[in-house]
Amino acid sequence: MAHYSLVPKSFFLSVVLIIFSFLVAAKLYASEPPPLTLDYYKSTCPTAFDVIRKETECAVLSDPRNAALIVRLHFHDCFVQGCDASILLDDTVTLKGEKKAAASTHSLKGFELIDQIKNMVESECPGIVSCADILTIAARDAVILVGGPYWDVPVGRKDSVTANIDLANTNLPTPNESLLSIISKFLYQGLSVTDMVALAGAHTIGMARCQSFRSRIYGDYGFTSVKNPISESQLSNLRSVCPPMGGGKADNNISAMDYVTPNLFDNSFYQLLLNGEGLLNSDQEMYSSVFGIQTRELVKKYAADPLDFFRQFSESMVKMGNITNSKSFVMGEVRKNCRFVNT
Ligand code: HEM
Repeated sequence: MAHYSLVPKSFFLSVVLIIFSFLVAAKLYASEPPPLTLDYYKSTCPTAFDVIRKETECAVLSDPRNAALIVRLHFHDCFVQGCDASILLDDTVTLKGEKKAAASTHSLKGFELIDQIKNMVESECPGIVSCADILTIAARDAVILVGGPYWDVPVGRKDSVTANIDLANTNLPTPNESLLSIISKFLYQGLSVTDMVALAGAHTIGMARCQSFRSRIYGDYGFTSVKNPISESQLSNLRSVCPPMGGGKADNNISAMDYVTPNLFDNSFYQLLLNGEGLLNSDQEMYSSVFGIQTRELVKKYAADPLDFFRQFSESMVKMGNITNSKSFVMGEVRKNCRFVNT
């Protein structure tokens, strides 16, 4: 035993400290976050998926629009520092959230639906399931509930302790942006042109505000759309919902992006694009733009084959859901309340 006393205790302590600091630093600078897995909550919260499905079901059965709100929230989350629930954070004295970004302000809704799901999950297994995972799973369930495809959702995301409104303003596409600019925003996220066209198919459900489609219906809608009585009466409906002059209350009047089957997740959105009846400029551009050679073929493909659309949509949703924020894995947490970071 005597030889131990030759080395001072403080030496061991320093070695342990150095190794510990090294491990922390290695973790901090590790570029690759740990992969998401299907069974992440298997032992810690086996009922998580069931609770989320049940609550999403309640929300969508009470109003099918809720499916669209949840799916869009997930998209706006993932495009800003990865799928880390940064979109759910409210403004506080010390934190500026992303809710007032140009693409989201006055239009992104459904936050209270996620609060409700989170409350139920917390009462089942407190402090275990991240808001980012809840949003990703709920988006999948919402799609199924309005007739869309099923896909497995890998989980294990962490919630961010930050938000970034500047990044939200830069990264999120807007309806009057050019096709090439929108494509570049998807490529930046590691999503392909195919992913973009398939994911935009989410516009088969949900509504847009007059402000988002005014320039389209007083612009080239009349030129792109087929000349038949249904299409013509649709255009005059849209114009009665949305007057040419902006700035008033009518800016928030809404219209379905897929007026044929607004509450059904199907491929009729692409068929509308073939008819030149896309409600948003950005959607119609995928079919009508001279720069849209590849996107046009994809639109035709998904319009002709709903199963092909479902297969690609599922694959692209997993890909979008896997955009991760490596910082969140190290610094992130499981928020108690999705609107605020833990104190
Ligand atoms: C391709 C680029 C995209 C653009 C330019 C775009 C733009 C828009 C706009 C302007 C609206 C209407 C907002 C309003 O007026 O209040 C909207 C609604 C919606 N977007 Fe997108 N979006 C895009 C891609 C996506 C993607 C990838 C998803 C999901 C996978 C998505 C899901 C939705 C849904 C579900 C709605 C309806 C929300 C509601 O009913 O309130 N969008 N989008």
